[in-house]
Amino acid sequence: MNSENVKDSNFEKNILCIGGGYVGGSTMAVIAQKCPQYKVTVVDINSDRINQWNSDTLPVYEPGLDDIVQSIRGRNLFFSDDIDSGIKEADIIFVSVNTPTKTFGAGAGMAADLQYWEKTARQIRDASKSPKIIIDKGTLPVKTALAMERILTATNNDIHFDVLSNPEFLAEGTAINDLTNPDRVLIGSRETPSGIKAREELVALYRNWVPEERIITSDIWSTELSKLTANAFLAQRISSINAMSALCEKTDANINEIAHAIGMDNRIGSKFLNASVGFGGSCFKKDILNLVYLCRYYGLDDVADYWESVVRINDYQKERFIFNMLHTMFNTLVDKRICLFGFAFKANTGDTRESPAIDIAKRLVEERAEIIITDPKALENAKIDLADIEGKIHYIEDPYEAAKGCDAIAVMTEWEMYTTLDYEKIYQSMSKPAFIFDGRDLLDHKRLFEIGFNVYPIGKPRFSHFKDK
Ligand code: NAD
Ligand code: UGA
Repeated sequence: MNSENVKDSNFEKNILCIGGGYVGGSTMAVIAQKCPQYKVTVVDINSDRINQWNSDTLPVYEPGLDDIVQSIRGRNLFFSDDIDSGIKEADIIFVSVNTPTKTFGAGAGMAADLQYWEKTARQIRDASKSPKIIIDKGTLPVKTALAMERILTATNNDIHFDVLSNPEFLAEGTAINDLTNPDRVLIGSRETPSGIKAREELVALYRNWVPEERIITSDIWSTELSKLTANAFLAQRISSINAMSALCEKTDANINEIAHAIGMDNRIGSKFLNASVGFGGSCFKKDILNLVYLCRYYGLDDVADYWESVVRINDYQKERFIFNMLHTMFNTLVDKRICLFGFAFKANTGDTRESPAIDIAKRLVEERAEIIITDPKALENAKIDLADIEGKIHYIEDPYEAAKGCDAIAVMTEWEMYTTLDYEKIYQSMSKPAFIFDGRDLLDHKRLFEIGFNVYPIGKPRFSHFKDK
């Protein structure tokens, strides 16, 4: 069958997304749901992933996503590993491949690794037989869209491509809500007649469900840099509150009181002020390091140092957490049994990428503790993350079983289920003295203290039964 831009007569347009990960899968599911007039296809080089998207067990856990996929898969939402056919058929192509931190060569440990993105650009160019709008959906260094244009136009075929930047702002765990009800959708284009026309097409797509005033347009470079800036600002807020949590612990001040007091100032706002063991996730660290690399590349070392300190404070917060455990538990963790409540980088996701729990687990093993990990969604990923670590590590889904016989519980993820457990029962089953280190300030500390635990929150006075506290 000749599939070159053949329109299925049932659909107005063919939309393709290259990269069926968290972003590609979730965004396309919502676009397909909101735009039944379009055929939406997600392709990926990873056939196993595509098989999972076509099965009852999706490759990512995201509240609400299963229902959407089940209801429209095969209607106007399709998953395939035939990338070339997808490209040929498509009018609009979203690119949402992974852009991790580079681990080799120049910029190793800082710059974005653009190899997947570049292969995709070349594949689009080589497989295309008709004009297309190409949309960078990933988080990319500023001026990447320019590189995309250069790759697409580097051969003699006369096909016209318009490249847009449309970064995604969804957060995992709330992705479906973020996508159906976004604060804003940002679209960057060239100010040429063709660039503006392409931009209008994308605006029209989003207008199917996003109010006009929340769709903002800009130039491509500002759009690309806005995404890095948004993540840098969000991460900086967490490092700022975490830095203050360290001071609170020295001064008997309470970080919650401070967050409440400053959050009531409209200029500061109350969101993203939860002190924690540190931020995780696939993007904050990688995007800040990418920003730092860009600043250094342009000779802006002071600006680079400023943003790098956000990551430094995050590392400091994790190390502080370990030292607190070590000192509190009589300066040795050897053979102590420590139960990690949660392993996901945040609640309501099975994702563990850059989870602070990974670092905490590794450091505890270094201290020769025995660790027991429990999590309702992330145990399989935890096993992969810690596969190379030699030490006593156990994975137990039931938190009661996991905590049995342990010396301490360390809360790593703010799963709501941990707030409703029977802590009397857990306390009875643990070794004494029993400790709780609450890396999310999630639990009722006073109540836990009354049960008998020694409780060590983040940025708050501790509740200790030891007389010399
Ligand atoms: P991911 O790793 O979950 O998925 C990327 C997918 O791309 C993988 O399935 C991979 O197999 C596929 N892929 C790689 N090379 C390919 C190729 N040449 N052809 C086809 N498929 C290919 O990544 P993600 O979390 O979805 O992130 C994608 C982009 O979106 C990144 O730039 C990220 O920074 C950005 N982003 C992520 C989030 C998030 O919450 N995860 C939010 C906003 C933006
Ligand atoms: C973040 C941004 O919130 C999204 O807007 C962005 O699209 C995304 O990165 C991305 O580019 O990948 P995400 O990492 O999924 O989303 O989750 P967040 O809710 O931002 O949480 C990140 C980390 O910060 C988590 O470990 C979370 O527990 C931690 N956090 C968050 C805190 O420690 N305190 C807070 O107050 C908020």
